[in-house]
Amino acid sequence: MAETLLYLQSETSAFMMSIVLITSAGNAVVIDGGRPEDLPLLRKIVGGRPVKAWILTHPHLDHITGFSFILSRGGDPLMPEKVYYHFPTREFMDETEPGEAWTLRSFLSVEDRLGERKVTVNEGDVFRVDELTFTVLQAYEENDPIVPARPGDQNSTGNENSLVFRIDSPGKSVLILGDTGPLGGDRLMSRHWRDLRCDIVQMAHHGHGGVGAEVYLAAQPTTCLWCCADWLYDEEPMYLSERLWGTSMTRNWMEWMGVKDHRVTKDGTQKLVLWDGEEKAAPISGG
Ligand SMILES: [Fe+2]
Repeated sequence: MAETLLYLQSETSAFMMSIVLITSAGNAVVIDGGRPEDLPLLRKIVGGRPVKAWILTHPHLDHITGFSFILSRGGDPLMPEKVYYHFPTREFMDETEPGEAWTLRSFLSVEDRLGERKVTVNEGDVFRVDELTFTVLQAYEENDPIVPARPGDQNSTGNENSLVFRIDSPGKSVLILGDTGPLGGDRLMSRHWRDLRCDIVQMAHHGHGGVGAEVYLAAQPTTCLWCCADWLYDEEPMYLSERLWGTSMTRNWMEWMGVKDHRVTKDGTQKLVLWDGEEKAAPISGG
């Protein structure tokens, strides 16, 4: 019986996020995809399978420049059937995070090439690829964007407005937090704390300066996915500002919560089985 697989891709670039899902029907779904240097390994993992969906969490260089490269080249075999995202506007990024806005601008310069492939997602949207169901829990909101309390603060507007979604398979469930920071984590908790429970969680913003501990408490995962090269996973304990804790504190939280299974990209690409392909027996009704 064919399985449902999740690959947490190891970084070829300095740091990045790329996750590949393979369905039991042999289709692929890519989340972010990292940078152009990460594409050769991504191609190996996808292995020539049709890419049914590509989901982009937010417009930062370590998440979307690989996809922007594919889009700018044209005719790439990795070109997906659908691309799901909801990025902040160029004006919002120019105003609130000018240092990082170039990544969005370079994406927008080729965005038209997506044509019918583009799907703008919002909170509450649900889409499916084979046995996988994707539920959007948080997305950028034009009328109510998340803005750091102090302009120029280390909270990043691109990160805080990351797409957050859950993936449900017939076996395990996965929570994707992108690079969401503490402010985005607060919104997520206020609206969706009941929806966060999952088996596997992708640690927000590479485990460094991400959502608060309460998001992980609500998720109660048994497995953590860390997009962390060794220098980031093993960084010195640090506190940046405004609840922005370093990776070591996030690791402490998960230890306190009793999580034992940590998959870290510094150790190479991680392969997880989400579903073994066996149908669960129907519960026996009483009476
Ligand atoms: Fe990132």
